[in-house]
Amino acid sequence: MVYKIFFALVLLSISVSCSFNADKDQNCDEDAVEPYELPDVLTLKNGEKIDRVSVWENKRRPQILNLYKKEIYGFIPKGIDKPLISKVLEQSDSALDNTAIRKQISLIYKAKGKELEIIVLLYLPKNTKNPPVFIGYNFYGNQTIIDDKHVILTNSWILNNPALGINDNRASEESMGTRNERWPIKKIISEGFGLATVYYGDIDPERCDFSDGIHPFFYKKKQNKPKGDQWGSISAWAWGYSRILDYLKKDEMTRKSKFILFGHSRIGKTSLWAGALDRRFDIVISNNSGCAGAALFRRKFGETIAKIHYNFPQWFCQNFNKYRNKEERLPVDQHMLIALIAPRPVYIASAELDCFSDPKGEYLSAYHATPVYELYGKTGLNDSIQPPLNKPIHNTIGYHLRSGRHGVTTYDWEQFIKFVKKHLE
Ligand code: GCU
Repeated sequence: MVYKIFFALVLLSISVSCSFNADKDQNCDEDAVEPYELPDVLTLKNGEKIDRVSVWENKRRPQILNLYKKEIYGFIPKGIDKPLISKVLEQSDSALDNTAIRKQISLIYKAKGKELEIIVLLYLPKNTKNPPVFIGYNFYGNQTIIDDKHVILTNSWILNNPALGINDNRASEESMGTRNERWPIKKIISEGFGLATVYYGDIDPERCDFSDGIHPFFYKKKQNKPKGDQWGSISAWAWGYSRILDYLKKDEMTRKSKFILFGHSRIGKTSLWAGALDRRFDIVISNNSGCAGAALFRRKFGETIAKIHYNFPQWFCQNFNKYRNKEERLPVDQHMLIALIAPRPVYIASAELDCFSDPKGEYLSAYHATPVYELYGKTGLNDSIQPPLNKPIHNTIGYHLRSGRHGVTTYDWEQFIKFVKKHLE
């Protein structure tokens, strides 16, 4: 009995520990990085080297995709990829001083007598047919990204952040526009782009467990969390991105648009994974994504698997546990995640003072994804040395290291827009 209780407590501490940023040790000493060997992205499991797109597409790519599902982010249950029921909740043709169309759409997923509602806030430039559209989750509700009183307050549970006007885990009028510096909507619109944003907690709120959001819709009898190789939150958010895209591909205003998937930090990890899973996204942008995003695990610099897993076990499938302090056993590393996006343009953005996200590791994985891009005749990153500060590279793999901290800045958006324009030409 005592043994059973002890065992249950150990399990509990592994599966539900969720202490945000509890480990503040930055672990940012470049001299401490030990030599490592990356798995070869262009060598099949049987040792065969790949020099043709067809072998990459038919054999190696599916192998790698499957490893990511099984060992890191988890399989998304089958049968749930059908588009959700959609309903337009609000629309205006004179938003943003009459320069934009605003549309708010509810996407509903129904099962087991319950429903999950995802609210899409869409701004489109006026008089532009099928403009390219950025798609990105926000962290505190649609109402935070712009000071526009018509934006519907999210109903979902939100992590408290009094500085942003979020108390009692609920959206408030006070929180309207409190995150607008991260979302330069007027610029996005004036450059001819649309923006679709959703609160990520509509799909899976950050409550450190699996009791709410989309996961419980797929539990079998007596199940209360995903099985060892089933989806964690990152896969759930990736699933949500594809459902937003399903909708935009049907809306007459965006049916023929190009779609640019954008994500910052934990959602930067998600945008890479969603871009790998769903090839309908035309361009993928990942900002300050760090560990389990663009950064190479094997450098063990900044945030490591042990740290991320201690703070956020729910982001991953349980199988990921076994790689804590055992990075070299992983059958993949993050250059392979970026390679899964090939030949589509992908942009990795780092910030100089964001050592926890390992800017150099973010660059190196993009660099090591290059052979796959070259297989398709595309140009990736040619130099193993990171470019200087604020000197972006806009090849099919794009990269910049900007001054400053972890975050999304006007400089970042300027680069994203230039990069996208160049690659949509
Ligand atoms: C934490 C976490 C990071 C993540 C970040 C975020 O700092 O350790 O991995 O990128 O949160 O999403 O804001």
